[in-house]
Amino acid sequence: MNEINIAYCDVVQPQILGVHPYIPGKPVSELQRELGLTYVSKLASNENPLGASPSVLTAIQHELKEIARYPDGSAYTLKATLAEFLSIKPEQLAVGNGSNELLELVARVFAGPGDEILYSQYAFAVYPISAQVVGATGIEVPAKNWGHDLQAMLAAITDKTKLIYLANPNNPTGTVFSRLEWEDFINQVPKNVIVVLDEAYIEYAQAQLSDDEYANGIDYLTTHSNLLVSRTFSKAYGLASLRVGYMAGCKEIIQYINQIRAPFNVNNYAQIAAISALNDQGFVEKVLLLNQQGMRQIKDALATLGVDSIPSAGNFLCIDLGKEALKVNQKLLEEGVIVRPLSNYGLSQFLRVSIGTQVENQHFIDALKSILFSMSKDL
Ligand SMILES: Cc1ncc(COP(=O)(O)O)c(C=O)c1O
Repeated sequence: MNEINIAYCDVVQPQILGVHPYIPGKPVSELQRELGLTYVSKLASNENPLGASPSVLTAIQHELKEIARYPDGSAYTLKATLAEFLSIKPEQLAVGNGSNELLELVARVFAGPGDEILYSQYAFAVYPISAQVVGATGIEVPAKNWGHDLQAMLAAITDKTKLIYLANPNNPTGTVFSRLEWEDFINQVPKNVIVVLDEAYIEYAQAQLSDDEYANGIDYLTTHSNLLVSRTFSKAYGLASLRVGYMAGCKEIIQYINQIRAPFNVNNYAQIAAISALNDQGFVEKVLLLNQQGMRQIKDALATLGVDSIPSAGNFLCIDLGKEALKVNQKLLEEGVIVRPLSNYGLSQFLRVSIGTQVENQHFIDALKSILFSMSKDL
């Protein structure tokens, strides 16, 4: 047969051509390979510096003999455990391969070419990607003080708006909107527009803020059938590598999400780990305490150095290094510290640093201090 030369860009779905893939944090092994470093602190992906609860590791070990079996495709026990934890019904839950999968599935359920999906400037990068992949028009609403301007988002709703993504706290900025702002917003969104409230960092926010400063989305599900709340086991529960998250909402919408997800989207180990993790809230308390101490440690050091940051309710901080941010990033890598540059978010003067252990935080602080000192000498 003759080989036919095909330019696949001519046959690929047009909306796929413009998709800019999500940029993950640099893996430790990559930096070690590149720079021959032995000691590296990865503070680039908002991961849990304490790892996972020991009970999770034991549960996974017990289950290793089941590796050849398919997982429970309905995630019955995980959903039952979650439903009890959240005081909702199991039918109100969909579980996903990370909450990331669910964020994308919602776009597939509700939007297509000609529709609009709203999200805030500087909001989590997966929202514009999800809009693009389904051929919908992503509408980026200008931010206010680096965070969501919910009034402006309300004003941006048109007849074409199908979906609104909100992150509270937002990644990468760490900003939150208050209970009052949230209630005012959700009460005015038309019922045929779906609101996805992404609460990937809720545990950290609740530990750092008062009830007035932060609203828990689950409390609004009974009164707002157009609301979906997504959460993850990747952060406070320390299960990022297993990929498991969930979405809660009204039974009917959740049914549509379950209808299109892959049959075994959450693997057995992720399900078992998530159940164990939920049952060990003592571990989460330790994680949250460490985060608060680490946040203070880094903020105090930044204050001494005269470096500004965006107030954050998450497990990370956006620090303002002005024109030097990328240069500082490169020098931090050379010192064995991986943080996240944010040019792809239009935040090129910032570096996002995840809160790590006391030792990792100090590694970052010491490296930053000496970098800024040597740069000031070069001026
Ligand atoms: C705001 C936000 N939402 C969702 C996710 C996705 O998390 P996962 O897919 O690991 O559940 C992340 C991950 O960084 C995030 O920052």
